[in-house]
Amino acid sequence: MQDLHDDLDKYPVADSAEIANQVPIIDVSAVVKDAASQHARDAVDAIAAACQDWGFFQVINHGVQEELLNRTWVQARRFFAQPAAGKKTLLRTRANPWGYYNNELTKNQRDKKEVFDFTTDGRDPIYDAENRWPAIANGFSQTMREYRDACTELGLALLEAFCVGLELPADSMRADFATNHTGFVRLNHYPVDDPLDAQDVKKLPAAGLGVHHHSDAGALTVLLQDDVGGLQVFKDGFWHNVVPLAGALVINTGDMMQVWSNDTYQAAVHRVLAMNQVDRYSIPFFFNPSAATIVKPLPSVVSAERPPRYAPIQWSEFRAKRTDGDYADYGTEVQIAQYRL
Ligand code: OGA
Ligand code: NI
Repeated sequence: MQDLHDDLDKYPVADSAEIANQVPIIDVSAVVKDAASQHARDAVDAIAAACQDWGFFQVINHGVQEELLNRTWVQARRFFAQPAAGKKTLLRTRANPWGYYNNELTKNQRDKKEVFDFTTDGRDPIYDAENRWPAIANGFSQTMREYRDACTELGLALLEAFCVGLELPADSMRADFATNHTGFVRLNHYPVDDPLDAQDVKKLPAAGLGVHHHSDAGALTVLLQDDVGGLQVFKDGFWHNVVPLAGALVINTGDMMQVWSNDTYQAAVHRVLAMNQVDRYSIPFFFNPSAATIVKPLPSVVSAERPPRYAPIQWSEFRAKRTDGDYADYGTEVQIAQYRL
């Protein structure tokens, strides 16, 4: 499969003329309360416009408590501060993707980062595997679960806003997410020093970026970033910085939202620069539908003039193939372009 975005990293970072053109910042308090209410209409419209223009926006008054955000940061930093040997007992595998990893391949290129992934409790329905929790006490797993659940609540409210924006009943997507979603949280650490052992660094290609450009696979992503910066979104020929805003969460749409909306909402291409001054941390929550969900363009965005642009996609299959793309030995990453009609 040819990668249509091969040359994207050669594009410039936004110049002074483009810089005023920023990722929108949206107050979502009314959406969190009731996305279907008239009171939420302005925020819903702003979200719909941001999804069309950027595939990215920042939310304030999102309902995730500051106190929980602070505890989540403390625990995330504690996790990465463990000795490497401790983290390596949690190494993820092809069969069980939950745990620690420091050599991810996005577009088959190495990223300069280390990650820890965890999902819902119990056995997850795609891999039939369980979370690997580290042996660090003092509330790590408890805080992480709380953070995951708070993001799930926010994600459900945002999905309602997306539905209203597409002229669908607010709860149209609820059944695919509310009780058996396959979302997961990733703790990202982008260190200045390469996270691989010195002998491995020599064997592998240099890690030129923190995360190579990609779009997220699922419905939407809720991202908590620290104040360092380095996340960039591609729009109209420029890379735009997603400038850190204290207390805000960054939202972006994923591939499945692009398919559901029949290309009305874009799954934005984004990347993270490699750190060379100070370490950066970020915590995305990837909100994904239930394993059995069949994703296809929704009725309100399909018409005789605008036929469906994608064949139906079984989420569990797409997700498993995307994860396989992380492992060099199992081929290239699956993209929605392969389902395009
Ligand atoms: C990701 C991602 C952005 C960030 O993990 O998919 O795009 O700011 N992260 O860390
Ligand atoms: Ni991403």
